[in-house]
This record gives sequence, C-alpha cells and structure tokens, in this order.
Amino acid sequence: MSVFIQFWTLVANILCIPLHLMEAVGLYGIYKRIFPLCQYRISIKYNEKMHDNKKELFRSLSEFKKPGGRLTLLEIGCGSGTNFQYYPAGCRVICTDPNPHFEKYLKKCMDQNDHLTYDRFAVASGEDMGSIEDESVDVVVCTLVLCSVNDVQQTLREAQRLLRPGGAFFFLEHVAADPSSWVHFFQHVLQPPWYYFGDGCKITRETWKNLEAAGFSSLKLRHIEAPFILLIKPHIMGYAVK
Ligand SMILES: C[S@@+](CC[C@H](N)C(=O)[O-])C[C@H]1O[C@@H](n2cnc3c(N)ncnc32)[C@H](O)[C@@H]1O
Repeated sequence: MSVFIQFWTLVANILCIPLHLMEAVGLYGIYKRIFPLCQYRISIKYNEKMHDNKKELFRSLSEFKKPGGRLTLLEIGCGSGTNFQYYPAGCRVICTDPNPHFEKYLKKCMDQNDHLTYDRFAVASGEDMGSIEDESVDVVVCTLVLCSVNDVQQTLREAQRLLRPGGAFFFLEHVAADPSSWVHFFQHVLQPPWYYFGDGCKITRETWKNLEAAGFSSLKLRHIEAPFILLIKPHIMGYAVK
C-alpha cells in the first residue's frame, strides 16, 4: 500500500476513534439488532439492481440436483433471505446466519416464498457450521458474506465439508478494485467507517484469490461492475464445483 493511502487511512482511523472505542467496550453489539432492518431495506434495492445477475447466476442451481432427488441448498449468512425468490421450486433450504436478530425478516421472506421447503435456521458463523453433517448438501450459497466473515479460507473449507462430491459453491461478492484506480484508494481510506456501517464488512478483500486457492475441482468466476456506489462496484460472481 502506498504511503499516500496509508496516510489517509490513518486519518480515517483517527476520526473513527469513538467507533473503535465503542467496539472495544462492547457497545457496538447494539448495532447487531439494528443491522437486520437496514440490510432488509438495502437488500430490496440491491435485488432490483442485480436482478438479472442473480437470475443468471442461480439459473445453474438445478444442474446440481441429484437425479430423481430434490435440491438441498445451504445458505451461509442468509440475512433476511433475499435470495429465496431465485431458488427453484421444491428446493430444500437450510438457512444459517450468526446474527439471530435476522429471524423476524427471514420468516417474512419464507412466507413470501412458499415454493421452497425450509429445513431450519441455524445460528452459526460460516467458519463453524458444526451442526450440519458432512457432504449433506448439493449447493452452498454465499452472497455479500465473504466480505464479513473473519476467516474466508476457513469458511470455504466449511462449505467444502458440507458439499457432496460434485456439489457447488455459488457466490456473488463485492471485492477490492484494481490497485491503479481511485476506487482502490477510496476503498482503503473509507474502510474504517465502512466496517462499522456494514456490520464488519471489508471492502478491500481480493476474495477471488481465496476462491482460486480453495482447491475446488473447477471454478467459474467472472468480474463484473455492479450499478452501485463506487466503493462496492467491483463484484465477482460464479460457482465452484467440489
Ligand atoms: C450484507 S449481509 C448479506 C445478507 C444476504 N446474504 C444477502 O445477500 O442479502 C451480510 C450477512 O453476513 C452475515 N455474517 C457476518 N459475519 C458472518 C460470518 N462470520 N459467517 C456467516 N455469516 C456472517 C451477517 O449476519 C449478514 O447476514
């Protein structure tokens, strides 16, 4: 990182000292109760703008159904269930998220999407979904989550543990911008306040590198420009097969 970026990131960190202190004394935890409502509202707008991308991405889900069986899908960090409308009819869905305060919004979304069968809502982080059996799902879905997990590599290992051989990991994530761009500069400088606004979201992650290193048998990955504010314009989407 250049000295220029380091200097302005330091300035942003100094301005965020009150937020850092709130987190240090445990006060930031209150935001965990408010975030689900914010995310619920933002996700409606996100879906409007990303509708075609999501339709295209999730079109391939059915390819991973076992012959004669139904598709079993697990979503990591499902939030308020924004993706449910894109899942094929009859699909069995296991919902996971570490924030239990999403449940109210999740229930609402489940009621609106009665073409799916809901197995359960497990309060679990992507890094540790120990209550779910090995090789028990056909598909794992992760959208706008790898930016927030503490350990991307461990989350991908967990996804692989849960997937049956031949199953697939579907992703749609915002990522770090090209290092030669201004977006890259602003992503680094505004990372400190964004972390708090976005419930731990990191906008500077080069998540495609984690996916490439995760040891899937094949990876379909595309870089796209999403129609959002500069900081979260660069996205990746695709799927990786176990
Ligand atoms: C921006 S929201 C995205 C929600 C949903 N996936 C969507 O696309 O609308 C980020 C989600 O990641 C969840 N999350 C945060 N840390 C996580 C972790 N370590 N493991 C799994 N999910 C996590 C949050 O609780 C939240 O539901």
